Amino acid sequence: MKDIFAPNLLQGKHAFITGAGSGINKRIAEKFAEHGAHVSIVGRNIEKSVGAAADIVATGGSAKGFSADVRSFEALSMAVTAACTEFGPIDICIAGAAGNFVAEAKDMSANGFRTVIEIDLLGTYNTFRSVYSNLRSVGADLLAISAVQSVMPTAAQAHVCAAKAGVDMLVRTLSIEWGAQGIRCNAIAPGPVEDTEGMKRLAPEGQSSWDRLLAGIPLVRAASRDEVADLALFLVSGASRYINGTVVAIDGGQSNTGSLPMGNMLVDSLRRDKAGA
Ligand code: HXC
Repeated sequence: MKDIFAPNLLQGKHAFITGAGSGINKRIAEKFAEHGAHVSIVGRNIEKSVGAAADIVATGGSAKGFSADVRSFEALSMAVTAACTEFGPIDICIAGAAGNFVAEAKDMSANGFRTVIEIDLLGTYNTFRSVYSNLRSVGADLLAISAVQSVMPTAAQAHVCAAKAGVDMLVRTLSIEWGAQGIRCNAIAPGPVEDTEGMKRLAPEGQSSWDRLLAGIPLVRAASRDEVADLALFLVSGASRYINGTVVAIDGGQSNTGSLPMGNMLVDSLRRDKAGA
């Protein structure tokens, strides 16, 4: 698709992106590279990070893959040091790594709940905290990837809803603490996005799940990864320079509707699965 922005909006900037080995964050990384950024791709699977970076380099962009699990502050700090040695101080940081599975709270272990809180919420804190001392002094932009679950309590998603609501408040709080230093901190909250691992998990029964999910979205379709990347680009560009501490929904209007259709679809699917149907 033709780019709707002026070219080279991020020329020479260093973007550090977690979870960028696949899905939404990979497309964000590609788009930032298309706009002239040097992109550090961070993930716990080094093959995926290196592969995503190689794809960018193959199309003429600048990128390198690094290994870190966002649950480990130490591992992230090492990745930050290595990335800054390669590309200099960080101008843009996207906290994109996330985990999800579909389970009712009563069927989830405490460790299952904790795992998603640790990847999504603690991981976002660890990411922003570890880049903090390595940000370019003026005009750094931080962006977290939240989700509609942060404002839509959804059955079979208690762990994700709690984690993403925490992400929203973390972003809003950091925007207050760090604003005076010229650091902006925002989030985007996607609903269903095509071609992502998250959507595979949220449409457990394929087309029939999709149909029920999309029926609950006013625009009656999912977002494309490109549309989410466009919003991310806007929010780290000069065009949004007075936007700070905001969570921007990109959900076709889904968060203005009730979450019962989505939750009921997920629970029905779990119950059918258990019944062996
Ligand atoms: C119940 C489950 C479960 C399931 C895992 N667990 N899957 N419990 N139902 N379906 C439990 C395990 O039993 C274990 O608890 C605990 O969770 C940790 O599981 P591990 O597999 O050991 O953890 P780990 O290898 O770290 O994997 C993390 C993960 C996994 C989140 C569980 O799914 C993952 O790696 N996800 C990354 C990719 C991903 O999810 N992408 C989608 C992101 S989309 P016990 O007690 O047995 O030890 C997204 C956006 C959401 O987040 C919004 C979309 C619209």
